[in-house]
Amino acid sequence: MMNFEIAVYGLGVMGSSLAKNLISKGFRTALFGKSQAERERFETQGDYTVFSTEEEMVKSLKSPRVIFMMVTAGSVVDHVIESLLPILEKGDILIDGGNSHFKDTQRRCNALLEKGIHFLGVGVSGGEKGALIGPSMMVGGSKEAWNFCGHILEKMAAKVDDEYCCNYLGKEGAGHYVKMVHNGIEYAMIQLIADTYSVMKRGLHLTHQEITEIFTRWKNTELNGYLIDITPEVLGKNDADGQPLIEKILDVAQQKGTGSWTLEEAIARGVYVPTICESVFARYFSVDRQLRQEGSQILKAATKAMTLENYEEKLKDALYLSMIVSYAQGIALMKKASDDYGWEIDLPLAVSLWREGCIIRSGLLKDITKALKESDKNILFSKSFGDLGKYQQALREVSAATVEAGVAVPTMISVISYYDYCRTEKMNVDIVQGLRDCFGAHTYERIDMAGSFHTDWVEGEE
Ligand code: 6PG
Repeated sequence: MMNFEIAVYGLGVMGSSLAKNLISKGFRTALFGKSQAERERFETQGDYTVFSTEEEMVKSLKSPRVIFMMVTAGSVVDHVIESLLPILEKGDILIDGGNSHFKDTQRRCNALLEKGIHFLGVGVSGGEKGALIGPSMMVGGSKEAWNFCGHILEKMAAKVDDEYCCNYLGKEGAGHYVKMVHNGIEYAMIQLIADTYSVMKRGLHLTHQEITEIFTRWKNTELNGYLIDITPEVLGKNDADGQPLIEKILDVAQQKGTGSWTLEEAIARGVYVPTICESVFARYFSVDRQLRQEGSQILKAATKAMTLENYEEKLKDALYLSMIVSYAQGIALMKKASDDYGWEIDLPLAVSLWREGCIIRSGLLKDITKALKESDKNILFSKSFGDLGKYQQALREVSAATVEAGVAVPTMISVISYYDYCRTEKMNVDIVQGLRDCFGAHTYERIDMAGSFHTDWVEGEE
């Protein structure tokens, strides 16, 4: 009987970091790795208790057992659960810390509850380093499990002042949903940085050195945040020959799928997230290099060179509004999902978990949390960010300059479209309704009377 408080199942990069994090916080932690290589790598690093069978690992735990699974999302999670189930007891707790799809988490939660096992789906953000020193953790699933072991998760997490960036957000897949949206916003923010880089490089023809210096200066402005912090690091890295490494990286982006899930969900919920959408499609479109290479020979380029006075300030302002709009789209999606799925997610709380530890952490999140505490309206309407007028003007000028000069930055341009849609009192879909009714008798509603109407639009036609 070793009475370990918690076990970490899976000693890959993230599992190892989380295990070390738990141990450093003083929790008696049992470790389990399926592969011998994983176990040996760990054992040679210090005085760790690494089990080679699931039975031994489970037996070493205090009751109720708490097992933190950090394995590849997807069917592997189901296989691990299946292999653990026969050796668990009613009341035991399974935690899934991977990037699982929230619907899988929902299914697992309900299926395990029938067997008396409590399940938590935890979105963990912060990469390898965050997992080691303090990630952001978005928790969903069994409230009873959270009440029992939430204090352990809290101590693993990053902190802002006295608040942990870890909390319970709702039943079933609520935690993994919030993590999925976090990743959708992450895609948008990354692509917006890339678009801004494109304006500097392909539009304004700044040197690599100049671009790196601008991003370095922005670290200490209202743009401050993790992704802005690491951009000059990535730009400043040289290859062995002394040339910028970034210029040798193939322009084909990879993805593991969470951005696409966000988009699929946005469509399912009917929530407009054009910036997340463009950022996801930028990665898909990047894959077809041949099309782009042919297109660059066949399609005519713009004839005007880019002009943008005071470009450093304008690009900073444009990017600032773009970041706010990226958060706004993700938050709107979480709100709708929470209503539709009945999760009752506390939005200011969910967003406050992103203030530290995660990839999309930024200075803006303090104001966004404040805005959401004051009102659950779209955060663009909040006074928390001051007057957005100057920023939208800058974004208009930058966007117009890119269109004129033919620099493709659809993610950036989607931001100004979103902003303008949000301020469009009367949309042009009145014509959409008219056309639908004309060709298909789909009917329309009127502003001056209630009901559903059909008109014979074309004279002489039935
Ligand atoms: C995090 C990250 C992490 C990872 C994503 C995105 O919050 O720590 O979001 O989960 O970077 O899986 O990966 P892709 O860009 O490969 O989709």
